[in-house]
Amino acid sequence: MSGSEGIEKLVRPFLKGFTGYSAATSPETLEGKVDVPVADIIKMDANENPYGCSPRVLRALAGSSNLNIYPDDGQQGLRKLLANYAGTDADRIIAGHGSNTLIDLVVRLFVGEGDEVIVNVPTFDLYRFSTEICGGKVVNVKRDNDFAVRVKDIKAAITPRTKMIFIATPNNPTGNIVSRRDIIEIIETGVPVVIDEAYYEFSGETAIPLAVKYQNLMVLRSFSKWAGLAGLRVGYGVFPPRIADYLMAIKIPYIVSMAGEIAVRESLADIDYLQGRVKAIIKERARLFDKLKKVSWLKAYPSQANFIYCAVLQGSAAEIHKKLQKKGILVRYFDKPLLKNSIRISVGKPEHTDAVINALRGF
Ligand SMILES: Cc1ncc(COP(=O)(O)O)c(C=O)c1O
Repeated sequence: MSGSEGIEKLVRPFLKGFTGYSAATSPETLEGKVDVPVADIIKMDANENPYGCSPRVLRALAGSSNLNIYPDDGQQGLRKLLANYAGTDADRIIAGHGSNTLIDLVVRLFVGEGDEVIVNVPTFDLYRFSTEICGGKVVNVKRDNDFAVRVKDIKAAITPRTKMIFIATPNNPTGNIVSRRDIIEIIETGVPVVIDEAYYEFSGETAIPLAVKYQNLMVLRSFSKWAGLAGLRVGYGVFPPRIADYLMAIKIPYIVSMAGEIAVRESLADIDYLQGRVKAIIKERARLFDKLKKVSWLKAYPSQANFIYCAVLQGSAAEIHKKLQKKGILVRYFDKPLLKNSIRISVGKPEHTDAVINALRGF
């Protein structure tokens, strides 16, 4: 064999032509392409926390003397802290390098070639990503026109090959939640159900109390959004204890960095500060929503997360995205079958709302 064509033949056949996850644009890649300095770019495209992380995290990292040693691979201290925050037991918890890695881990535990995974579309693309990498088949169940999940259709999609059902609540990119009643009905199918609560702190609704009763329920959470740790990458999940044991066994060693572990500890020690920031974002969400509703060519959807999804009724979302980017304001745009001509705007500080609304009004 010579050259990469030789080994390319050995790539797992179902990964030929695989579509990767399309992540948000990094501001530094826009140097010279936008009308403002990179440092002044307003990021409203990746649902990050505009206030940053707790100052305690920065201080603790700057003063840390143990970044040269591996973190505790068994996550003992971390699991206790997270269990206390989530209101569950430490033996149910696994932490990961962002909740993305936990989506991937849990799919790797259950899904093999030809297995089916039910995904309620439109939704976060990582469920498809991880399922396809494992050789599984994504079974898309369409949400209704207001993006509510259709429980009847989910039940009808279950086959003997169904290994998992993914439900994001609040859903990304649409921002709506799934009712407790619907969640219970879906769990009662007996299929392993993953409830993705990456935006829990902005909705206040959680399925974790159901975890004691239902042995097929798994709940994922993130520190990226509410705690402002997107760059450090920390997420966690609540699982039935036996499943947590399996996940601990199959995870990559040291899946949370020492810096991530320190950041969780300091964030949870500064919870009042962080919850104050969450409150500010929730308040700003209402203001941004009111202002977006007044833009006649947009249809803004109510959100329980830290972003607002808007259908573009006149004009092109791609164009709007481009024009905003030129002005140094980044938003996400979509133009695919279930997310036609639309944008998603992350909730920022009040001045970010003013900037994006002024720009939109000028178009
Ligand atoms: C629904 C949902 N789940 C999970 C994640 C992953 O979050 P992280 O890996 O940063 O914890 C995101 C990120 O945007 C998301 O929108």
